[in-house]
Amino acid sequence: MLKSIPFTQNPAYAKLLAHFEATQSVQIKDLFAEDTERFNRFSTRFEDILLDYSKNRITEETKQLLLELAQGAELKDAIEQLFTGQKINATEDRAVLHVALRNRSNTPIEVDGADVMPEVNAVLDKMKTFSEKVISGEWKGYTGQVITDVVNIGIGGSDLGPVMVTEALKPYKNHLNLHFVSNVDGTHIAETLKAVNPETTLFLIASKTFTTQETMTNAHTARTWLLDAAGDDSAVAKHFVAISTNEKEVSKFGIDTENMFVFWDWVGGRYSLWSAIGLSIILSVGYENFVELLEGAHAMDNHFRTAAFEENIPVTLALLGIWYNNFYGAQTQVILPYDQYLHRFAAYFQQGDMESNGKYVGRDGQPVDYQTGPIIWGEPGTNGQHAFYQLIHQGTKLIPADFIAPAISHNPIGEHHKILLSNFFAQTEALMNGKTAEEVIAEFQSKNVSPEVYESLVAFKVFEGNRPTNSFLVKSITPRTLGSLIAAYEHKIFVQGVIWNIYSFDQWGVELGKQLASKIYPELQNDEPVNDHDGSTNGLINAYKAWR
Ligand code: F6P
Repeated sequence: MLKSIPFTQNPAYAKLLAHFEATQSVQIKDLFAEDTERFNRFSTRFEDILLDYSKNRITEETKQLLLELAQGAELKDAIEQLFTGQKINATEDRAVLHVALRNRSNTPIEVDGADVMPEVNAVLDKMKTFSEKVISGEWKGYTGQVITDVVNIGIGGSDLGPVMVTEALKPYKNHLNLHFVSNVDGTHIAETLKAVNPETTLFLIASKTFTTQETMTNAHTARTWLLDAAGDDSAVAKHFVAISTNEKEVSKFGIDTENMFVFWDWVGGRYSLWSAIGLSIILSVGYENFVELLEGAHAMDNHFRTAAFEENIPVTLALLGIWYNNFYGAQTQVILPYDQYLHRFAAYFQQGDMESNGKYVGRDGQPVDYQTGPIIWGEPGTNGQHAFYQLIHQGTKLIPADFIAPAISHNPIGEHHKILLSNFFAQTEALMNGKTAEEVIAEFQSKNVSPEVYESLVAFKVFEGNRPTNSFLVKSITPRTLGSLIAAYEHKIFVQGVIWNIYSFDQWGVELGKQLASKIYPELQNDEPVNDHDGSTNGLINAYKAWR
């Protein structure tokens, strides 16, 4: 059980508040001017990953107080509870063991007195054997043809992780074409089915519960499509596999449990890409690369569990996030990968972070009186620069930004990568330094613009700067470094949840909408007007009925 230590009662909270009041006008660029060692002091390396967090509004004292906050929340104990399979997901009475899925050292991890590692390894072996058959062409469709296309049907954690990772690892891809269908909007499955051939397509039905409305609706549509072509139920065994914790529902759907890849209730949906949910990743890049991904995550797990908090990457990211979220009042956190292959990274952590820490009830069952999880968003650079960076540079909101870039590109074409990285470096520099009125005026003068012309423009061209950034410079995005990066962000979320005194591994907040949708769905079966909702909902439903 995680202890209940409300954030504002943490002994370090009052100290941090006082420190914030005393230092809130601190200018990051002044801190650099005062300390030539600042980069070394506030950066850390982990294997081929460099995290530079020196461009933040922090001093050594801030760091020490934030570390006290971690201690006050008994973070060390919480980490041990995570890694030793304690039921820290208390509202669902479950352990939280995505770390077991990538526990490459294979040390026993027990849940209810039983080591989970043999089961984890058995599923990995099953995925290896199966994926090798599909990739090599040994696995045949109902007309004896090899599989050319794989369609993963899943949503949320059963979609976003595999989508993000298969995109990130495209340079490692084999010949199989991967497709992902998540939305219950019929357009998603219809457009996907247009592009594939039933004789050569394998469907992975990925759902922890195997009851998720969107996934089951898409799965049934896919099965009907296959059977329309094959004309015989026996084709299902050759074209459908299930990835789930729910054997009963898998059998009910008509998938032989021989063709089922299991995982367990101690794997949270949004932390499941390391489990059988990663089968689409294996089919895309091969088993060895998936193992490398697990190895990278495991290395980060070891770092998180054993490194001193002052040089611990997930702890550092978490504490910086809390500094801005709870003291500076920042409402969002932007993630900006300067790598086109990482274009779904921010979307992935939108679920990872917001479904985990979007909670207003504390572990004591009481509403909290402080801010919890931030809004996570982001797009790859440099595209974002031409879209929303204006607001980050000159808007009224403080938006802490994480930049991520590889030093070595998988596509070293001409000058592209140097241009890309010059933008990454320039943006973090510009966000910190800004541009003073004097600099703006000097620029006008160097172009011989007269004061009458420039005076009224100066205010618009000033950048106040002092916008905080973290920079991840990764040698190259490989399966291993990607695994480490994802694990770092996962653990950051956990640390923040511990300190905010919330439960990060349940998601009750998604239930109400699902319940109401299942009440409304039958009401859409006829053309009778409805009147049992509020005026707006009645109005919308009745307008829909009149139009369709
Ligand atoms: O509705 C939210 C959610 O429960 C997520 O937590 C989960 O990742 C997603 O739905 C999909 O659930 P499942 O894998 O059970 O289909």
